[in-house]
Amino acid sequence: MQPKKLTIPDIRNRKNDTPIAELTAYDYPWAKVADTAGIDVILVGDSLGMVVLGYPDTVSVTMEEMIHHTKAVVRGVERALVVTDMPFGSYNSSIPAAIDNATRILKEGKADAVKLEGGVSMAPTVEAIVKAGIPVQGHIGLTPQTATSLGGFKVQGKNAQAAKQLLDDAIALEEAGCFSIVLEAIPAPLAKRITENISIPTIGIGAGVDCNGQVLVIHDLVGMYDRFTPKFVKQYTKINEPMLEALRQYKAEVENRSFPTEAHSFTMKSEELDKLLQLY
Ligand code: KIV
Repeated sequence: MQPKKLTIPDIRNRKNDTPIAELTAYDYPWAKVADTAGIDVILVGDSLGMVVLGYPDTVSVTMEEMIHHTKAVVRGVERALVVTDMPFGSYNSSIPAAIDNATRILKEGKADAVKLEGGVSMAPTVEAIVKAGIPVQGHIGLTPQTATSLGGFKVQGKNAQAAKQLLDDAIALEEAGCFSIVLEAIPAPLAKRITENISIPTIGIGAGVDCNGQVLVIHDLVGMYDRFTPKFVKQYTKINEPMLEALRQYKAEVENRSFPTEAHSFTMKSEELDKLLQLY
C-alpha cells in the first residue's frame, strides 16, 4: 500500500510529539532510500553545491540547479515532505523576486515547501512568500550562505546578546508564518529556550537534543564527504570504504578478464554465428 504523503499540518503537529527526522537528498536514488527509511522531511539543501557539485561553498548554487535536483528527488519520494533551499541571491534582492523564485521551486521542481536563511531581516520576505501560498521553513544560527559575514563556520549565539537576537529571529519567523525553523550550530541551552518559546517545531543541526527534530546532510551521515566533518555530525557508516573496495575489485576483474562471466553475457544460435563467419 502506498504510504500517506506527509503535509505541513502533519509536521506542525509534531511539535509535542515524536521528534521529526529531516535529512538532505539531492537525487532519485538517495531520496528513495531516505523515504523508504521513513525520513519525515527530505531537504534538497543548497549543500548540494558542496557535497554533490564540488563547489567550495553554497553561494555558487543556482536556481536551475536547485530545480533540476528537486525534480529528481520528488520522483523518488512517496511519503516525506520535500523542502527545497532557496539559493543565495534568489530571495535577497527583492520581495517580488523572492515570490517568483519560490513559486518556480513549487511549480517546476514540485517541492512541497521552500527554506531560506535569515531571521528578523528576512521576516517580511517570509511573510510575503507564505501569503503567496508557499510554505516556508526558516533557518537561523549558522547560516552557510552568509558564513563569511558571521566570521566563518562558527557556533552562533554564544553570548547573551547574540542569543537574545536569535530568540527574536525565531519569534519573527514564527509570526511571519514559517511552519518550522532550522537551528544550526547554536548552544543546546539556547536551542531549548527557543524551542520552548515558539509554537512551531524547531529542527536542530548542532543545536542539541531538545529541538523538535534533527536534520543532517546525508553525505555526512553515510561518510561520503571527505573535505571536512563538522563536530555536530554523527557518521553512522563509512559507505565510502565498501564502495571503494567494490570499484577496485571491478577494475582488477576487468584487467584479468574474470568479469564479465557467461552469467553476464548473451549468446547467439551457432547457425547464425556460422552464417556471420561466412559473410566475413
Ligand atoms: O543546505 C543544507 O543542507 C542545509 C542543512 C545543513 C540544514 O541547509
